[in-house]
Amino acid sequence: MERVISGIRPTGNLHLGNYFGAVKSFVKMQDEYDCMFFIADWHSLTTHPTPENIRNSVKTILSEYLACGIDPEKAPIYVQSDVKQVLELYLYLNMNAYLGELERVTSFKEKVRKQPDNVNAGLLTYPCLMAADILMHKADKVPVGKDQEQNMEMARLFARRFNRIYNVEYFKEPASFYFADKAVKVPGLDGTGKMGKSEGNCLYLCDDEKTVTKKIMRAVTDQGPTQLNQEKPEVIQNLFTLCELLSGKEAADYYNDQYNNMTIRYGDMKKQMAADANTLLAPIRERILAYSSDDALLDRIMRQGAEAASARAEKTIEEVREIIGFRKI
Ligand code: ADP
Ligand code: TRP
Repeated sequence: MERVISGIRPTGNLHLGNYFGAVKSFVKMQDEYDCMFFIADWHSLTTHPTPENIRNSVKTILSEYLACGIDPEKAPIYVQSDVKQVLELYLYLNMNAYLGELERVTSFKEKVRKQPDNVNAGLLTYPCLMAADILMHKADKVPVGKDQEQNMEMARLFARRFNRIYNVEYFKEPASFYFADKAVKVPGLDGTGKMGKSEGNCLYLCDDEKTVTKKIMRAVTDQGPTQLNQEKPEVIQNLFTLCELLSGKEAADYYNDQYNNMTIRYGDMKKQMAADANTLLAPIRERILAYSSDDALLDRIMRQGAEAASARAEKTIEEVREIIGFRKI
């Protein structure tokens, strides 16, 4: 059976971007593939969280994964830092990664721009750690959003390069997997770019009903079309993208016709989107509360996940050590 791995950094609550870009695929894939999902807490160290932050965010994201429908009986969920073998593979991959190519990664360049006072080595080698997560499991498919595509290309490059350097056919090149056949980029509620925690334009899975409605009703729009069949400006295109995700294609087509014949009322469209968002989120919200208050269950799930992931990781590391020329330990 094909293997699937994916993870998300625990840096806050999951939002609709994470859900439609990643977690929804996880839930779908667990029935068809040999899946493992993890919480990328080592990756979150690039922004120097406190111990308290780490503990809380790991628990939050685990509760949210479960609330979205990941079933640990089908797909083990583990915490990245519980599987220390990943660090060893990270070291080996670092030795074959070049400064120039790491500096060219767009998300690195963006971080340099956004946080010039904290351009640490972990940020630079982020793609190596991500590749270690993936190659460790010899994953065939990795469900991620569009923004991860460059990191995925790096993972494939590192797999090929390792095979070439050691003249083996050992690592497979992992494919990006998109739930909707094409990469999803969920726009933010401010009408610009992508929904993201650091962008401050998110609808969170744990937002209560009132907050969801308020956020959607306040989503940025314009004055409305001034000509028939007019091309949509970016903010409006983004609202339609969100509408299709929340309310379905039929609803989006319906409002699209209204846009084209200039009868659209954004307020009506948003009302429907808010209602559909709440229908989607109400049961998830309820389950988040239930899981996050059951520490014993969360602990058990993390322990079982760590066991499953470590067993696989240990096998890979033994093989990799042998390929590189290290003694068996
Ligand atoms: P954030 O941008 O809020 O920090 P992350 O970078 O932690 O979110 O993303 C975790 C996962 O969710 C990744 O697979 C990423 O591709 C996906 N994701 C995040 N935001 C979006 C979005 N707006 N659209 C599609 N996928 C997204
Ligand atoms: N870089 C991913 C993100 O920011 C998180 C991540 C780390 C990941 N390691 C991974 C995703 C391995 C998929 C596979 O969202």
